[in-house]
Amino acid sequence: MSLKARSSRRSRRFEGRPVPDPLPGDSQRVRGAAPEGATDAESASRAVREMFTSIAPRYDLLNHLLSANIDKLWWRRTARSFRHILSREGARVLDLCCGTGDMAFALRKQGSAATITGADFSHAMLVRARAKTSAGSPIAWIESDALRLPFPDATFDLVTLAFGFRNLADYDAGLEEIFRVLRPGGECGILDFSEPGGIVGKVYNVYFKSVLPRIGKLISGNNGAYAYLPASVKRFPSPAQLIERMAKTGFEESSWTPYTFGIAGLFRGKKVPRNVPSLSIRDVSSR
Ligand SMILES: C[S@@+](CC[C@H](N)C(=O)[O-])C[C@H]1O[C@@H](n2cnc3c(N)ncnc32)[C@H](O)[C@@H]1O
Repeated sequence: MSLKARSSRRSRRFEGRPVPDPLPGDSQRVRGAAPEGATDAESASRAVREMFTSIAPRYDLLNHLLSANIDKLWWRRTARSFRHILSREGARVLDLCCGTGDMAFALRKQGSAATITGADFSHAMLVRARAKTSAGSPIAWIESDALRLPFPDATFDLVTLAFGFRNLADYDAGLEEIFRVLRPGGECGILDFSEPGGIVGKVYNVYFKSVLPRIGKLISGNNGAYAYLPASVKRFPSPAQLIERMAKTGFEESSWTPYTFGIAGLFRGKKVPRNVPSLSIRDVSSR
């Protein structure tokens, strides 16, 4: 089952105000991530960077342990869905919020002809990504904020984010920046957690909200990071709401495909090329 784009309404922004708590059933109002103690987008962003920097040494171990290695399947499945771009000679690909690089490595495996760049604002995460990079499969790693990318408009054929978009301090600004750096015809893929329903959801919730934060705290030594994870997923817009925000940004053919009972899922969207109306000779001469 996958969800397709629905009609769009005007987005509501919270410029210059403290990050609000979501109203029940109205995560449309959520501007972005809000780790404990954050009062605005800037402090939210700083807290997110400090948190990932502090857990960087244990990040990979905990990722694979807490997901029972299913994270590897999710990265691979995401990369495979963009094989038509990755296999193109000279395709330019950006993996945003790349962390220690596993999404970028999965992309590299699907396309040796593509130029792949990984970007993250945590230096400590990037150091690990670089250390894991093999000489024969080059990936450029750059330290950059996903909300202020150092790339000109229309640079990339594909932009991916794995478990990073949810951590952005402003989701609409993130979508706009992704849209800006995509070439016309380019695509984006946002892989992130979701909240599964039914019996699976109930069982998973016990694990995700009670067991996972305890193991995370024990191994990473960080009190907040693994309590923030379920809280951030709860706060994150539903698939239908994020698709609506993507449509407002300008993405077309947007969809969401659930992975593993909807524990995670892949959002896809396309920057459809626009035909710029050309002036006819008559138009020009009449000016
Ligand atoms: C949960 S990790 C995901 C890492 C990797 N993509 C993966 O799948 O394992 C989230 C990453 O997003 C990065 N991040 C969060 N907000 C960011 C921003 N505004 N700009 C750049 N990186 C950001 C964090 O530093 C962290 O490395």
